[in-house]
Amino acid sequence: MKIGVPKEIKNNESRVGLTPAGAFELVNYGHEVYIQETAGESSGFADIDYREVGAVMLPTIEAVYAMADMIVKVKEPIASEYPLVKRNQIVFTYFHFASSEALTRAMIKSGAICIAYETVQDDEGTLPLLTPMSEVAGRMAIQQGAKHLEKPIKGRGVLLGGVPGVPPGRVLILGAGVVGVQAAKMAAGLGAHVTVLDINMKRLRYVNDVMPPHVVTEFSSVYNIKKHIKTHDLIIGAVLIPGAKAPNLITREMLKDMRAGTVLVDVAVDQGGCFETTRPTTHEDPTYIIHDIVHYCVANMPGAVPYTSTLALTNVTLPYILKLANLGWEAACSKYPDLGRGLNIVKGEVVIDEIKETFDGALV
Ligand SMILES: NC(=O)c1ccc[n+]([C@@H]2O[C@H](COP(=O)([O-])OP(=O)(O)OC[C@H]3O[C@@H](n4cnc5c(N)ncnc54)[C@H](O)[C@@H]3O)[C@@H](O)[C@H]2O)c1
Repeated sequence: MKIGVPKEIKNNESRVGLTPAGAFELVNYGHEVYIQETAGESSGFADIDYREVGAVMLPTIEAVYAMADMIVKVKEPIASEYPLVKRNQIVFTYFHFASSEALTRAMIKSGAICIAYETVQDDEGTLPLLTPMSEVAGRMAIQQGAKHLEKPIKGRGVLLGGVPGVPPGRVLILGAGVVGVQAAKMAAGLGAHVTVLDINMKRLRYVNDVMPPHVVTEFSSVYNIKKHIKTHDLIIGAVLIPGAKAPNLITREMLKDMRAGTVLVDVAVDQGGCFETTRPTTHEDPTYIIHDIVHYCVANMPGAVPYTSTLALTNVTLPYILKLANLGWEAACSKYPDLGRGLNIVKGEVVIDEIKETFDGALV
């Protein structure tokens, strides 16, 4: 199969859909790999790295789309790419169709086979191609939170680890899922006192089992949240209710109970955020202040660390790319139901209920 990897052109996206190691695997299986020149540069991969493993570099995005039977990407195609997607071409990437009717219509019109990373789902219900980005965001949440606690950028002026004779900072984590656990691990590693809240006792039991004693768990309730926001320096929003907007666990009114310079990091901003005062920000201008409380609400946190994020993403996508390339999409999706759940639009037809429901028949 001919596999094409275009350079990402969405604003602020520096990852790439395939590493040289992935290209090496595909070439070894006898496939042809076409990469757009400089596509890997921002992730630390030079054109020569791809050439050395047998990939062919193409000068333009048009050439990559024209050549490929399967396009492997990171983000959804943007408007200028819509006309490049060909009938019967496999496009394997994050699509998030429910957030864009224009994209959905364009992919229906293209006649392509659109397989979305975010709906590939194993039999236990986990989303293996989303997990690594939550891992990155969870770990970054503490790195960013620790930085924004510094006084010159309006934080409380607290060092999370403390020093001998001075107690450590206190980190409150709302949600003990993938993001929450990774955040707890990083905060604990810095020596902070960590409180983790969740409504799922299984998750709290897990955290309690695997974390050191300075990470404590409590059931998530309005009462407990109100109690802890008064004494914690850094608060991480990491809740998820699948398919729904995140609940507002901290209201605007509650900000007045916090100490000036407390830092809120709302990782759940991409689901609407779990603080009432959350609004999406960018890496260029990541924070804003309300009632002296610093808000960090970057919607694509992994984008700031493309080297790590590209490796983390391609570690999990490569086995599926190989299945698609070796078997073809029909055989691969029927043999591997987890991959089959990634099919969203097939040759002009929406094949997943969530998209049909989102647009409420408007696409018919
Ligand atoms: N901003 C970014 O760059 C970025 C990157 C990756 C993920 N995310 C987002 O981070 C969020 C968390 O992702 P995840 O992978 O950890 O999800 P997850 O499903 O693994 O964990 C979510 C947790 O929230 C808990 N929860 C639900 N309601 C709660 C409540 N009222 N109080 C406390 N806990 C509650 C659930 O029980 C679950 O344990 C999602 O919205 C995800 O989209 C954002």
